[in-house]
Amino acid sequence: MESGKLIGVGVGPGNPDLLTLKAVKILKQVPVICSPRSAESKPSLALSIIEFILESRDDEFEVLDPVFPMIEDEEALHEHWDEAARQVKERLEQGKDVAFITLGDPTVYSTYAYLEKKIRPTGLEVETIPGITSFTGCAASAHLSLGEKDEIIVIVPKVDERLAPILEHVDTAVIMKTSRHSKELQNIVGQDSRQKDIISVQNCGMADEKIIKGFFQDKKYLSTTIIKFTDK
Ligand SMILES: C[S@@+](CC[C@H](N)C(=O)[O-])C[C@H]1O[C@@H](n2cnc3c(N)ncnc32)[C@H](O)[C@@H]1O
Repeated sequence: MESGKLIGVGVGPGNPDLLTLKAVKILKQVPVICSPRSAESKPSLALSIIEFILESRDDEFEVLDPVFPMIEDEEALHEHWDEAARQVKERLEQGKDVAFITLGDPTVYSTYAYLEKKIRPTGLEVETIPGITSFTGCAASAHLSLGEKDEIIVIVPKVDERLAPILEHVDTAVIMKTSRHSKELQNIVGQDSRQKDIISVQNCGMADEKIIKGFFQDKKYLSTTIIKFTDK
């Protein structure tokens, strides 16, 4: 029997209209969908984006929803990823394709990377379907051009001592996961004396999307800040 294929599918930042045709085609027929959640009590956001596709299906399919908690403990995290990889591998060995859905794009800070690293070395087939990443979605919603001509764009997932020296060299900084470090971010950006526009977007592409000048003070996870240095 031929083994199934692991397919990493980016589902975009939130609006189902931002799914790619390829993602829709796959999700209409794949026998297993894997959609991780951050906690037992929390439904998967990625799953809610593709709900309309699943509701329209009249064949049988399985949804795996392993918990990938947002914790720092590497050892505990690995136990969760190992368990998810075990469940996925079992389905692949039964000859079933598995679509692992991920918010935005699977190659941008996605748990898909961990799963892919566990599955591909075993010789099982893997395919990755890109999605519209949240930061281009945020820039589009905010009518911002991220980069023109020779401008340098940098994507920052964590605010630490690396940020200040990097900012000196960039024209646009996209700061992701801002809910974890908004105070430090404001301090570092405040110390940079150049002229700049600061725009933050929350829940991009969703019914409750918010766009503000400056930084969000709440701790909402789906928040991204874009800083455009305007001194030339
Ligand atoms: C683990 S990363 C996932 C990134 C995702 N793979 C992508 O391509 O956008 C999660 C971070 O992405 C950003 N993000 C994802 N979806 C978003 C949305 N709808 N609105 C604003 N920011 C979003 C936030 O900064 C959030 O903390």
